[in-house]
Amino acid sequence: MSKAPVTVTVTGAAGQIGYALLFRIASGVMLGPDTPVVLNLLEITPALKAAEGTAMELDDCAFPLLAGINITDDPRKAFDGANIGLLVGARPRGPGMERADLLEANGGIFKPQGAAINDVAADDIRVLVVGNPANTNALIAQSHAPDVPAERFTAMMRLDHNRAKTQVAQKLGVPVSEVTKMTIWGNHSASQYPDLFHAEVGGKPVAEQVDQAWLADTFIPTVAKRGAAIIDARGASSAASAANAAIDHINSWVLGTPAGDWVSSAVVSDGSYGIPEGLIAGVPATSTGGAWQVVQGLEIDDFSRAKIDASVKELADERDAVRSLGLI
Ligand code: NAD
Ligand code: LMR
Repeated sequence: MSKAPVTVTVTGAAGQIGYALLFRIASGVMLGPDTPVVLNLLEITPALKAAEGTAMELDDCAFPLLAGINITDDPRKAFDGANIGLLVGARPRGPGMERADLLEANGGIFKPQGAAINDVAADDIRVLVVGNPANTNALIAQSHAPDVPAERFTAMMRLDHNRAKTQVAQKLGVPVSEVTKMTIWGNHSASQYPDLFHAEVGGKPVAEQVDQAWLADTFIPTVAKRGAAIIDARGASSAASAANAAIDHINSWVLGTPAGDWVSSAVVSDGSYGIPEGLIAGVPATSTGGAWQVVQGLEIDDFSRAKIDASVKELADERDAVRSLGLI
């Protein structure tokens, strides 16, 4: 007997990331080759026509797993019965802007979406926030969904994670698949901390295989500022790589992470590693049974501690800012 379809709601469906995301979800890459999907596309009213165009193209692919498409500008319709919510729709930053500049503009979007998820989504709803500033937008949505277990709200660190793996693979001349146990700590922002003291190549910490100057002065800023470098080069923020990371995140969450490795996910903090409870911060995480578990027991040296604390402080400041704007 064929499986029941999973309802996946994608906000900002007519945007750049949406265009790179929807076809791959419908093809089965995200949830596996035996899981049909219904796609619910949420857009603002002026972009509904463009979303309809994307839906026409989805139809024209004749994806065997695509069991239906619904298009709406009403969050309560979009999240009705949703099992997975990909919250992409937001205003991307332009040249010279920091992601934090978007707090007020985008915060207002995530409040009604969190409330709609609370009221109408399926009991097993899992949410990934991609729209920036992703961690704090996730906090806003989560705080308006008191009936949904908090751990079902996550934000995307996986693009940073994938970027970091490739930088290491290129530096050491190994395939990316040989880089394991990467962690991006903290905020999806320039303060993030990509950690090479626990990442491994050939079973040994990467930090022991590269010089400290490269790690501190080249690797960390390259990964942390990659989003800005892409905006500078493309004239638009990353889209295909962001969509790919969203697919990786949900795939790991729902289908599990491989034994002996972990990924980076921003999850609601339980206080592990001194990250204040409730902040949605990047941590090393595995997933089994459809739930994230924070990897415990990693030793954090003074260098890493200072970097993690700085990024976590930025998250706390963003939380305080949205609190004072009445968004949480
Ligand atoms: P885009 O401007 O191409 O598309 C955004 C879409 O969202 C537009 O179609 C817009 O109409 C829609 N939208 C705006 N408000 C909405 C609302 N209230 N409800 C539903 N839809 C709404 O932008 P993009 O390039 O697709 O990027 C989307 C977001 O993702 C941006 O915030 C960007 O900064 C962020 N981003 C995050 C990461 C990450 O790693 N977390 C990576 C890349 C981009
Ligand atoms: C990225 O990391 O590419 C995105 O968050 C877009 C941005 O604003 O940097």
